[in-house]
Amino acid sequence: MSIAYHYKTSEEKLELEYLEALINREIPPKYKFLGSKNAKSWIKSCTDSNYSLYLESFKFLNSIEADISAELPNEINIIAVCVANLLKDKVLIEEFMKNKDISFSLMDTSEELCSYIMQNLEDINIPKSVYISELNNRKNLKLVSKQTKKKNHESNLFTILGNTFGVYPNGMMLKTIKDAMTSDDYALIETHISPDATDPKYIQSMITNYGNEDYNNHIMQVFNKCDISEDDGYIDVTYSNDRLFPDIDKVSHYFTFKKNKTIRYLDEKLSFVKGEKILATYSNKYKLNILRKIIKTNGFKMVKEYINREKGLIYILCQIK
Ligand SMILES: C[S@@+](CC[C@H](N)C(=O)[O-])C[C@H]1O[C@@H](n2cnc3c(N)ncnc32)[C@H](O)[C@@H]1O
Repeated sequence: MSIAYHYKTSEEKLELEYLEALINREIPPKYKFLGSKNAKSWIKSCTDSNYSLYLESFKFLNSIEADISAELPNEINIIAVCVANLLKDKVLIEEFMKNKDISFSLMDTSEELCSYIMQNLEDINIPKSVYISELNNRKNLKLVSKQTKKKNHESNLFTILGNTFGVYPNGMMLKTIKDAMTSDDYALIETHISPDATDPKYIQSMITNYGNEDYNNHIMQVFNKCDISEDDGYIDVTYSNDRLFPDIDKVSHYFTFKKNKTIRYLDEKLSFVKGEKILATYSNKYKLNILRKIIKTNGFKMVKEYINREKGLIYILCQIK
């Protein structure tokens, strides 16, 4: 079955937004994955066997896939909101195909990662669509939702896997997903959970997990579009409370300039001062009770939760209230 490709964002728009991100000293997550060099680097990180966060969440999903399937109708469209950690959606597709009629759509800004996923689904004979599109332009997901229902089944399952949920403000994520849903639809959200009380051992393990050289190299990909490199500074990792919502913990990666630096981007001159930082990426970690409150307060009801306390993982299946 052929794959339909739809383009809802442009290179020009992404470049202008990148310029603003440099000016504001905070780079949105999508830039780590754009372009073939960055996509290859991400695929390598995930397929390297020492990336434990990736492997553990995969194993956990394998242990709950049949339970998730049992909660869902027999005809359903999977709409993957971002490519998750590579082939996680494939786990669900293969499980659902045992007793359901399904279709699969994928919405992501990285055309290269979308192609990688679709090549790996080549032998799976279901309707498939790719939307090269941006999540933070909220009307896009709503449009994808409507178009998918018109072409395929009446019910959608939005999957937001990996910690994609935790690398954006919750308000934006949940509003975007909720606006795209009707009462027939489901969302499966995976995210990272932290202990209820401050635990120095957990914090240390997060810093070790996220502070290694391989991961820092991956983070440096956010600068592939401009002339900032390891010669200009270094990445460091911090564990702290969110500035706007202190009940949320976050692991943040900052790039600190070790010398003054001036770059040109899109014909603009930008100057950075020695000691200045750019927030290259962050990843939220949620205490369970706070996460539940966030999801409920934003208009969702829980259908089922799958929790792996030991590995700090949760999958939440929910619907709108
Ligand atoms: C690989 S996943 C999850 C990565 C990792 N597990 C984590 O926790 O950050 C992130 C995916 O989201 C996509 N993405 C990020 N921001 C996006 C946005 N605003 N719109 C569409 N896709 C986006 C990226 O292209 C990437 O494929």
